[in-house]
Amino acid sequence: PRCYALVPCAGVGERSGAAGPKQYEMLAGRSVVAHTLEALAAVPRLAGTLVVLAPNDSRFETAAPGFAGWVARVGGASRAASVANGLAALVEQGAQPHDWVLVHDAARCLLRPEWVDALIDACFDDEVGGLLALPVADTLKEEAEGRSVATLDRRAKWQAQTPQMFRLGLLRPALAHGGDAVTDEASAIEALGHRPRLVTGALENFKITYPQDFVLAERLLRTR
Ligand code: C5P
Repeated sequence: PRCYALVPCAGVGERSGAAGPKQYEMLAGRSVVAHTLEALAAVPRLAGTLVVLAPNDSRFETAAPGFAGWVARVGGASRAASVANGLAALVEQGAQPHDWVLVHDAARCLLRPEWVDALIDACFDDEVGGLLALPVADTLKEEAEGRSVATLDRRAKWQAQTPQMFRLGLLRPALAHGGDAVTDEASAIEALGHRPRLVTGALENFKITYPQDFVLAERLLRTR
């Protein structure tokens, strides 16, 4: 099987405080998505990368000059819809059901090629696939009406990151079944009764979500 990367880049990023979509903010001289795509381009085992843009996107070409992969203007109303539409575009590029697809958020721009390699190493011969994730560090509370009503056992809790790596032929029906509520690929796979492999990611592989994330990301990128 081949490995492809699929990068959903069609969000509006309402929580980021930026004027436009967060993937087009500049960090250390380049756009968020340019950093992301540079890391993926440094993974030789990827046979190709497909970026999913909003149909009316006018910024990608300027934000990621020299990107050598495929672009599909098929972004949907949710991340899940954007990924599902992107998978259909990958099929048009010749991807086969047994091929692996690594879905990676455009907004996780501190990605390092080594982490992608570690995921591929861990999952290439796996029956299901898996994802980068990190054991939760903080104590977790369950809330009801502003009060903590229970403390969850954090030893068995992980936070999901991306890339998330699944076979095209499993991911397509899983997302079709999961609908728009699905916030990552692994949850759609779990809903079909499968158990994705958890591969240890990195604290630095955070997703730009809030205004202060830009400050931290910029600092980290400048010290690399
Ligand atoms: O909004 P969130 O942080 O969950 O977005 C994660 C990634 O999914 C981002 O790279 C964003 O551009 C993408 N996305 C998308 N289509 C949407 C919503 C988010 O491609 N409708």
